[in-house]
Amino acid sequence: MANSHVAFLLFLALFVGHGVVELQASHHVYSYASAKQPYRTGYHFQPPKNWINDPNGIMVYRGVYHLFYQYNPKGAVWGNIVWAHSTSKDLVNWTPHKPAIYPSQPSDINGCWSGSATILPGGRPAILYTGIDPLNRQVQNLAIPKNLSDPYLREWIKSPKNPLMQPTAQNHINASSFRDPTTAWFGPDKKWRVIVGSKVNSLGLAMVFKSKDFVNWVQSKTPLHSANTGMWECPDFYPVPVKGQNGVDTSVNSPYVKHVLKTSLDETKHDLYTIGSYDNVKDVYTPDEGSVEGDSGLRYDYGKYYASKTFFDNVKNRRILMGWINESSSVADDIKKGWSGVHAIPRKIWLARSGKQLVQWPVTEIQKLRANHVSLTNKTLKGGSVIEVSGITAAQADVDVSFEIADLEKAEVLKPSWTNPQLLCSQKGASVKGRLGPFGLLVLASDGLKENTAVFFRIFKSHNKYVVLMCSDQSRSSRNQDNDKTPYGAFLDVDIQHQKLSLRSLIDHSIVESFGGGGKVCITSRVYPTLAINKAAHLYAFNNGTQSIKIAELNAWSMNTAKIN
Ligand SMILES: *[C@@H]1O[C@H](CO)[C@@H](O)[C@H](O)[C@H]1NC(C)=O
Ligand SMILES: *[C@@H]1O[C@H](CO)[C@@H](O)[C@H](O)[C@H]1NC(C)=O
Ligand SMILES: *[C@@H]1O[C@H](CO)[C@@H](O)[C@H](O)[C@H]1NC(C)=O
Ligand SMILES: *[C@@H]1O[C@H](CO)[C@@H](O)[C@H](O)[C@H]1NC(C)=O
Ligand SMILES: *[C@@H]1O[C@H](CO)[C@@H](O)[C@H](O)[C@H]1NC(C)=O
Repeated sequence: MANSHVAFLLFLALFVGHGVVELQASHHVYSYASAKQPYRTGYHFQPPKNWINDPNGIMVYRGVYHLFYQYNPKGAVWGNIVWAHSTSKDLVNWTPHKPAIYPSQPSDINGCWSGSATILPGGRPAILYTGIDPLNRQVQNLAIPKNLSDPYLREWIKSPKNPLMQPTAQNHINASSFRDPTTAWFGPDKKWRVIVGSKVNSLGLAMVFKSKDFVNWVQSKTPLHSANTGMWECPDFYPVPVKGQNGVDTSVNSPYVKHVLKTSLDETKHDLYTIGSYDNVKDVYTPDEGSVEGDSGLRYDYGKYYASKTFFDNVKNRRILMGWINESSSVADDIKKGWSGVHAIPRKIWLARSGKQLVQWPVTEIQKLRANHVSLTNKTLKGGSVIEVSGITAAQADVDVSFEIADLEKAEVLKPSWTNPQLLCSQKGASVKGRLGPFGLLVLASDGLKENTAVFFRIFKSHNKYVVLMCSDQSRSSRNQDNDKTPYGAFLDVDIQHQKLSLRSLIDHSIVESFGGGGKVCITSRVYPTLAINKAAHLYAFNNGTQSIKIAELNAWSMNTAKIN
């Protein structure tokens, strides 16, 4: 521990000025990731080096967005976890600061793990986070800003009463399964509530703690909710208006909102959610009838996306979701490149008109980076055709396309056994011909298509309705065999008899973040091309079905490089 303390001081010594890191040769000077570092991102959040995971304590304070994140100052693998800190005026460009929270008390001496921010009356932020104590127990701690006049909230002080919530002989909480406090919300009894992820045997649960003063917390007898899915990490619990796309403060409860409970499932590393209602007297959440709990239920993202968290942006009245995108490469490759993990583009999140799922869309601020617009309209894609979309930097781009399908009757019949969309995408990748589809985009593609990531749709017929399958197939994304290339997929709830089928992909060197049906299905892929890098990357639209498809409209842009850390 003494060694790690010295190393930590050395780490701090790297920071100069007003806590803002002076970067020497950072990637944002170039319009492309370098040849040596082809997988660094141009506009997705990442620090200059080392390991990152969960976004923490996200909030807006005096017009400044704050993002804290789990960070290892000493290397590209998980460990030595502190809360690194960056701020932004636009959610696009980020300025780094010194780590805000790092081991300094017995209650967090072995690590400062995930947590959330709550804005207390008077606009005062407070952070609850998980600390690892000398016995390696998970306990919950409080930190508050030292200087409320500093919009960058650069210094934090910890409560001398920490830990505020801890496993005891009386409460039987499992000290290895008690973490990640949420943003707190205020109830009709004038008490704050917070939930903490936990488990009892194989039951995942959201434990409730209540407090009048944010310091003294009492555990409630019953959890907010539980399900037989294994440990719940990083729970998130918030209201969404029944109508419209605005967000509301986390404490709002009324007939005009539904509630969302998101859990990060430790066993499968998926962020799952249900929509339901919240009884703020009994402190019980009940998912709507028909909700599926567990891995076959709704997910924020059907690709690589975990440990996400939302916050209410009262400046623009929206709720924003931020998540961690893990690598799909080997640990050896991560160590070689010196870093691991990025964050997804912040997404606005709201309830779909159906009331049955959420919709997500990249925050509009990201469009500031768009340059070199190219477009196509009313273009027929015959079966078996591939057309190049040229004139943009295909390795760092934003593409938005909508398709029109003339003759839905030609769709293949969906077999009753085809119930697992991810499996279906594995069995029917882009190279398996169909009738209506596969059609979509080939991104980060090499000349000749030896390497490409296919993001595409297939349309099936099932009784009187049509079923749309969306896939992100990275099986041919790289010649490197050490990466996880399992294709991802999901069924997409869109009315294609009356609506065009849309697909937007944010392409950023090693990330393909895709939004189907206007954000009803999101799939994020990590890919590591060896040929299709930088200027050698191409973008194509393709149709490998027998039937023609029409591109109603396609817009694509180069994306400028953001100033990130
Ligand atoms: C608090 O922050 C403000 C704004 O950055 C600064 O002017 C002031 O000196 C700070 N106060 C202290 C005690 O550090
Ligand atoms: C507590 O959680 C840990 C980590 O998941 C698990 O290994 C252990 O079996 C649990 N202990 C009990 C008593 O359930
Ligand atoms: C991160 O990715 C690696 C490699 O694919 C995988 O082994 C690990 O389980 C993933 N972890 C999470 C939290 O997604
Ligand atoms: C689209 O193109 C077809 C021919 O390819 C043409 O007949 C049709 O009028 C065009 N529609 C629009 C709206 O431009
Ligand atoms: C289309 O299907 C053929 C035959 O299966 C395959 O060889 C080809 O690679 C596919 N095209 C794309 C773009 O995947």
